[in-house]
Amino acid sequence: MAGNITFTMIKPDAVKNGHIGAILNKMNEGGFKIVAMKYTRLSKEKAGEFYEVHKERPFYGELVDFMSSGPIVAAVLQKDNAVEDFRTLIGATNPAEAAEGTIRALYATSIGENAVHGADSDENALREANFHFSGTDMYM
Ligand code: CMP
Repeated sequence: MAGNITFTMIKPDAVKNGHIGAILNKMNEGGFKIVAMKYTRLSKEKAGEFYEVHKERPFYGELVDFMSSGPIVAAVLQKDNAVEDFRTLIGATNPAEAAEGTIRALYATSIGENAVHGADSDENALREANFHFSGTDMYM
């Protein structure tokens, strides 16, 4: 399975601004198949656990507050070379540096409120997919 799935979240800013449909459409146009998806809201505790790797960063508290501030869409996407291709589709973490036409260039407002999350390695994609979904909720 490694190498052909990635994990994404449409973050609270993009949900609040009405961009769920447009972002899912970009994912489909990019050749990604949705194999698991849910509309949910993270508790502070869950958001903190999800972003544990950033615990020592100065923005960790802000990140946890933001990610638990409203509903999100969590999804597992399948495609050859999923992790890398998805990071190309979403663009740089800071929308000011994101390439034209990427999801973050189109829908993100700041480095903190950057519309979408994309896993940064095959290992993390699996960890993050399993954090949100049980194996029976993924339809490969
Ligand atoms: P994401 O891809 O979800 O992974 C970690 C998140 O931390 C990242 O997107 C950003 O939203 C957030 N982040 C990274 N750098 C900063 C920063 N300097 N200030 C606030 N948030 C940040």
